[in-house]
Amino acid sequence: MTECLELYKGKSKTIYDIGEPNELLVQFRNDATGGNGAKHAILEDKGRVNCAFDAFIMAVLAENGIKTHWLKSVSDTEIRVRRLNMLPIECVLRNRAAGGICKRLGIERGRIFSPPVFEFFLKNDALGDPIITEDHIFMLKLASKEDLAAMRALTYRVNDILQPVFAKAGFDLVDFKLEFGYYQGQLLLGDEFTLDGCRLWDKQSGEIYDKDRFRQDLGDVIHFYKEAAKRLGI
Ligand code: TMP
Repeated sequence: MTECLELYKGKSKTIYDIGEPNELLVQFRNDATGGNGAKHAILEDKGRVNCAFDAFIMAVLAENGIKTHWLKSVSDTEIRVRRLNMLPIECVLRNRAAGGICKRLGIERGRIFSPPVFEFFLKNDALGDPIITEDHIFMLKLASKEDLAAMRALTYRVNDILQPVFAKAGFDLVDFKLEFGYYQGQLLLGDEFTLDGCRLWDKQSGEIYDKDRFRQDLGDVIHFYKEAAKRLGI
């Protein structure tokens, strides 16, 4: 990986140009951040666990007809992906109340949402990734009405595919975040699906197996990431 040109260093992943016009290399690092970067730590093995978790989920989604950027595994922390033109929008779907929605709307943690609650966020670190409406997105010219409808439908579809996968392993998929981008005129799922970008609770005990362990200083973050992966058969 020495001849790669670093294109972008995010909070937990680095993106490299590998001299292929339609592909990129993504490296999952051991960095963990919280509070929009205010909190930072290096957690041994995080990159490896996240890379394997992401590969498993992307494969499940692909098997179920979701088109993703994921192409192949390169090492235990690196993948090759299609080079997407990312929309600067985060799609969050919530099956239960936790985190942001509890603070914003005063809802009790754990409340079940039926149907699930969908939200758009603006991908902008300087602004702290604020929640935005469709009108804000059109005003900022970030995406079309069709893009938003497609992202919304794909996010619900991902939920329908993954909920039973997690349920079988004894987990509640509380919420998750997806990002999409264009590849040769098609909207594909990009970014990642890891325990950094979703909430996963044990169905019986309610124990937290996701990045809230880091955000809330609950400890043993990577132990729980590994346990979740093991229970999913990764
Ligand atoms: P929230 O409760 O902080 O709004 O987050 C909802 C879910 O989406 C949670 O699983 C974390 C994930 N998420 C991210 O990974 N990055 C983001 O920037 C946002 C807004 C949410």
